[in-house]
Amino acid sequence: MNPLEKINKTDLPKHIAIIMDGNGRWAKQQGEDRIFGHHEGVNSVREIVEAAAEIGIKYLTLYAFSTENWNRPKEEVDALMELLVATISLETPQLNKNGVKLEAIGNLKSLPEACYNELQESITATQHNTRLTLVLALSYSSKWELTEAVKEISKKVGSGKLKAEEISENTIAQFLCTKAYPDPELMIRTSGEHRISNFLLWQLAYAEFYFTDKLWPDFRKNDFYEAIISYQNRERRFGKTSEQLMSHKK
Ligand code: FPP
Repeated sequence: MNPLEKINKTDLPKHIAIIMDGNGRWAKQQGEDRIFGHHEGVNSVREIVEAAAEIGIKYLTLYAFSTENWNRPKEEVDALMELLVATISLETPQLNKNGVKLEAIGNLKSLPEACYNELQESITATQHNTRLTLVLALSYSSKWELTEAVKEISKKVGSGKLKAEEISENTIAQFLCTKAYPDPELMIRTSGEHRISNFLLWQLAYAEFYFTDKLWPDFRKNDFYEAIISYQNRERRFGKTSEQLMSHKK
């Protein structure tokens, strides 16, 4: 049976987050340099965005460039930025055709100007689409995001606009880059690494994690469907017991 047919369309995660890992290793396996792997990774991005829109996922967040990635060799960072600019501008018509709204989270001001401008153009050009919101995490790290949130909340408390004892989980969530999105129910990481790597630490508190050995350029539609099927076969308890969940269902 085709994996797509095994997916229960009435029980889809609203938001899926992905750590796209393994481009460098994939390229090495082909005897090519790392940037070749990133180029091939774009094909996987295209397929997964299309698959997510087709089956009815509402939010897809892709970890495209972390704060730590700035420490990679300059040639790789430059090539990645160029690839991002080229891909974003090339793919915008297709995003519009598929009803995909592009957004971005992270320290966007740290991006090279061309990349930042291209991103803003594409965000504006796709802003009215409603089928799927594609969120690119760019120059993003969770510790950076939480630090920024603490600074902003402190300013509010300092100026008397907010009382310290009024700070709730909801207040904190409202100061994160992801304030407009529901928390991801499913987080996928490719390439056999079992780490969260400073990605959505707050937002993934109750997410199901799915790890696969496939390297990102090999991760395609059927692999994405398999991850969703695995998610649908799990029991999400949110700290409750199985018995409590069963009695609630009756
Ligand atoms: C991780 O593989 C991948 C990245 C740091 C970059 C991801 C970027 C893309 C897939 C291309 C462009 C994306 C978009 C959204 C247009 P790695 O380099 O860490 O691989 P390794 O662990 O094997 O070294």
